[in-house]
Amino acid sequence: MAEDAIVVDHLSKTYGSGDRAIRALVDVDLSIRSGTVFGLLGPNGAGKTTLIKALTGITEITAGDARVAGYNIRTQPMEAKARIGWVAAEVILDDDFTARENLWLQAKLQSLKGWESRADDLLAYFSLADRADDKVSHFSTGMRKKLEIALALLHQPRVIFMDEPTMGLDVSTRRMLWDIVTQVRKEFDVTVLLTTHYIEEADALCERIAIIDHGRILAEGTPSELKARVSGDIVQLETAEAVDPTLFASIAGVQEARPQGNDWMIRVGSSEAFLPQLFRRIQSDQIRKISVEKPSLETVFLDITGRRIGDDEPIRDVRRFYAQMQRARR
Ligand SMILES: Nc1ncnc2c1ncn2[C@@H]1O[C@H](COP(=O)(O)OP(=O)(O)OP(=O)(O)O)[C@@H](O)[C@H]1O
Ligand SMILES: [Mg+2]
Repeated sequence: MAEDAIVVDHLSKTYGSGDRAIRALVDVDLSIRSGTVFGLLGPNGAGKTTLIKALTGITEITAGDARVAGYNIRTQPMEAKARIGWVAAEVILDDDFTARENLWLQAKLQSLKGWESRADDLLAYFSLADRADDKVSHFSTGMRKKLEIALALLHQPRVIFMDEPTMGLDVSTRRMLWDIVTQVRKEFDVTVLLTTHYIEEADALCERIAIIDHGRILAEGTPSELKARVSGDIVQLETAEAVDPTLFASIAGVQEARPQGNDWMIRVGSSEAFLPQLFRRIQSDQIRKISVEKPSLETVFLDITGRRIGDDEPIRDVRRFYAQMQRARR
């Protein structure tokens, strides 16, 4: 059987030292099978980009070890890097260059030889051939993303890292990109490690997912394995006044009730059985808000971390981000 494309072994990364030390990754273990799409799902600051930077050799690791495409990233960094493609979350295209010139620049940066026919194939594959000599500043967001992936594939890597490839994209462009990632994985026979904080993206795209929060991998498995971890439904309840916690304990089928101020997250065997009992015990004018969620990756995340993945996150808009980058360049 082929060796796993990525093996991460007790990897830790701490930025800074002393009081100001930030433990961005804590004892991370992962094995990612060759030829799969693997998703790293976590909120802002979870350590996703740091893991990619560690595995691509951009940042030094503090402890532990890792192998990518069969090469040790500490002792064989050049061999590993030659087999890695990287689609960064930040803008990497030069707007003043055409698509073909961006590919040329990439080839120069990597000292590639005989890259021209590969570049033509990639431009054709991503339906960019007729726009190859247009400046990238005239490209749509979807076209830019395709070109970024083409750049990452130019040197025929074995493993591709994609850091939030669909961040801020509209729904239709995001879905187009999901198809592209799936096709690229097959067509170019690569292993893809992508990061995301879109739960539905991890669910739709990835064969396996690791949930990461505060630098730690909290769970790992196929989407259905992860969903199977959460038994029962989650009822979110907001009340006008504080509720005596023993009230929930007295209802049959309640597995757990976690307070969050006047809000409660109540895990129950079946919401259909729970709700009538709740309404018998609590005045209806006490209930400000109530919602029921069936098991999903969203409830898995909620169950594991006690929060929703999108809580407290600023809305990030990739178009605004591109515009800022363009202004900064002028
Ligand atoms: N160069 C750096 N120096 C110091 N701290 C850093 C550096 N880069 C990241 N961090 C910290 O490490 C932690 C993990 O950051 P990281 O960028 O890996 O998160 P992330 O999961 O990619 O988040 P996001 O979804 O916002 O991109 C954060 O607390 C961050 O502030
Ligand atoms: Mg990041």
